[in-house]
Formats: sequence, C-alpha cells, structure tokens
Amino acid sequence: MSDLLHVSQHPLVLHKLALLRSSFTEPKKFRELVHELSQLLFYEATEDLALAPLTVQTPLAPCQGYEVSEQVGIIPILRAGLGMAEAIIDLLPTVHVWHLGLYRDHETLQPVTYYNKLPNEPDIDLSLILDPMLATGGSAIAAVDILKAWGARRIKFVGLLAAPEGVAALHYAHPDVDIHLAAVDSHLNEQGYIVPGLGDAGDRQFGTG
Ligand code: PRP
Ligand code: URA
Repeated sequence: MSDLLHVSQHPLVLHKLALLRSSFTEPKKFRELVHELSQLLFYEATEDLALAPLTVQTPLAPCQGYEVSEQVGIIPILRAGLGMAEAIIDLLPTVHVWHLGLYRDHETLQPVTYYNKLPNEPDIDLSLILDPMLATGGSAIAAVDILKAWGARRIKFVGLLAAPEGVAALHYAHPDVDIHLAAVDSHLNEQGYIVPGLGDAGDRQFGTG
C-alpha cells in the first residue's frame, strides 16, 4: 500500500490546505484554493508521464525539447470534482474530460450514479479520477468500477482529503490504483464526514447547504 498512497509533503500544499479547511474561508477563496491545490497535486501525480522528444526553434537556434506523448483523461466526480477539473485543464489543455455524476445517498452513504457519458471505447492512456473527498470510499470505488468496465487500464485517484477508512476501502477494492492526496485525516464521524476535514466540499465551493 505504502508505494500506492502518495500524501503530499510539499510546504505549499500544507499551507494552502490549512486555509482551505478554515470555516472562515468564503466560497470564492475556497474555489481558488481548490484550484491551486489541484494543480500542485496533479503535478505530483503526473511525474511518470511519458515524453517524446521534439525539436523547437528558439529565436536563436533549434533546440531539443519534449512533449507529453500519452493522452491524459480527467474524470471529475460531480459536483465537487468540477473545481479540480478546471484547474487541471488550465495546466494541461490537451486533457480529455469525462464527467461522472455520483452522489452519496444521505441515509445509506451508498453512491448513486446519475450522469455517465463515457464514449464506447476508451480514448485515454491515463485516467485521473478527481474528487476532493475520499470519505467511505464508496464513490471512488464506484468510479473506478465504471472506468475499468469501460476498459481504462491505468487509473489514479487525485483528491484533497481522505479518511483512513476510505483509503483502505479503495485500496482493498482496487489495489492497482494510485491514490494522491494532500492529507489523510483522523476518522469518519457517524454521518460519514471526514474529521477534522473541511465540511462539505461541494457546498463550500458552490455556496450551497
Ligand atoms: C462527496 C464527495 C465525494 C463523496 C465522498 O460528494 O465529493 O464524491 O461525497 O464520499 P464517499 O467516499 O463516502 O463516497 P456528495 O455525495 O456530497 O455530492 P456533491 O459533490 O454533489 O455534493
Ligand atoms: N463529502 C464531503 O464533501 N465531505 C466529507 O467530509 C465527506 C464526504
């Protein structure tokens, strides 16, 4: 497990995460922080991307350079993954974006799929599932199930916060999926919220709840 779980130790991630958690952080600032943290975590999660050499012409001379040679796909889980997706499109505009709509039933905490428009054939080499919160792990497991049934081979999960229960459940169900996070918190409370966490990531981004 230890080599599949990547919890960022970067000072900028830790600094921004504390601001994100604060209940005094308003939705506008919260969205900015989700954006910045997502870019930092995406940077770490893509360190193994394949490159192909290419020659570029500078104003002075031809120069050896590189370009990303695999097709990256991002799969934001609605709603809360939307802010993460926008940040990553800014950083790597060639990504393909496939939205998945999942919500947690408040009573059972089980994920319910309500939107899935994946094309018939996989069109991406590396799939990154984006969801700020890995709580029970039910939504992330359902997303990986859907991607694997679709034919995706390399799948990573990129989130901001997790409970240990969610990390363990996702790893147990899908031991081939790398998990990239800013932090693993203490536990889940009786309502399935991550403690200390940051509250409801969707509500805090979109000013609802
Ligand atoms: C939140 C979060 C994850 C899920 C995590 O979504 O964004 O998708 O809960 O919980 P789990 O690990 O226990 O499945 P939510 O259901 O609140 O939907 P929303 O983003 O539309 O608010
Ligand atoms: N979803 C959230 O938005 N927050 C939690 O703590 C758990 C699930």
